Amino acid sequence: MPEAIQPVRIEVTVNGHKYQRDIEPRMLLVEFIREELGLTGTHIGCDTSYCGACTILLNGKPIKSCTALAVQADGCELMTVEGLERDDGLHPLQTAFSEHHGLQCGYCTPGMLMSSYNLLEENPNPSRDEICKGIAGNVCRCTGYQNIVKAVDAAAKALSYEITTGKPTTATEEA
Ligand code: FES
Ligand code: FES
Repeated sequence: MPEAIQPVRIEVTVNGHKYQRDIEPRMLLVEFIREELGLTGTHIGCDTSYCGACTILLNGKPIKSCTALAVQADGCELMTVEGLERDDGLHPLQTAFSEHHGLQCGYCTPGMLMSSYNLLEENPNPSRDEICKGIAGNVCRCTGYQNIVKAVDAAAKALSYEITTGKPTTATEEA
C-alpha cells in the first residue's frame, strides 16, 4: 500500500490577511487560493501557463498561479483580484473595465486586472504599445482587446489624477 502523503504547513499573507494551512505538497497555488482560502476570483482557464486567467501577484510580481506549487508561496505576500477593491469602492482599474466594456464573459478579467495593475505599478503612464505588451500574457477570447486597452489607459489617467490632486476619482472623471 502506498504511503500516505504527509501534509505540509504553510503560512501566507493574502490581500493583507495571514493564513496558515496544512496542505498536500503537490497542491497547486491556484487550487490553494480557490479551494483552501475560498478566493474564487482567481480563475483557472488552461492550467498550462498559457491563458493568464490565474494571474496573481507574488511578492509584488505577477505569476501564473496554475504553474506554481502552494508550498513555493510559503512565507510570501500574495495579492489576488479580491485585493484590488478599496475601502471606499472599486479600484480605478475595475471601474474603467466596467465603463469601457473591457469584458464580456469576464473569464479572463481577474487575470487581466492583475496584469494591468502590475503594469501601472511599474509604468504609471504607459503607451498603447506598452499596455499591449503588459497584457500579452493574458488571453481574451471575447473582446478583441480594444476595449481592454482603452480601459487600462483610462485607469492610468484616473490614477495619475489621484496622485496629482490627492483626491480619489473614478476612471470616468478623467477618461
Ligand atoms: S490557468 Fe494558468 S495560465 Fe491558464
Ligand atoms: S471577456 Fe471573455 S475571455 Fe475575456
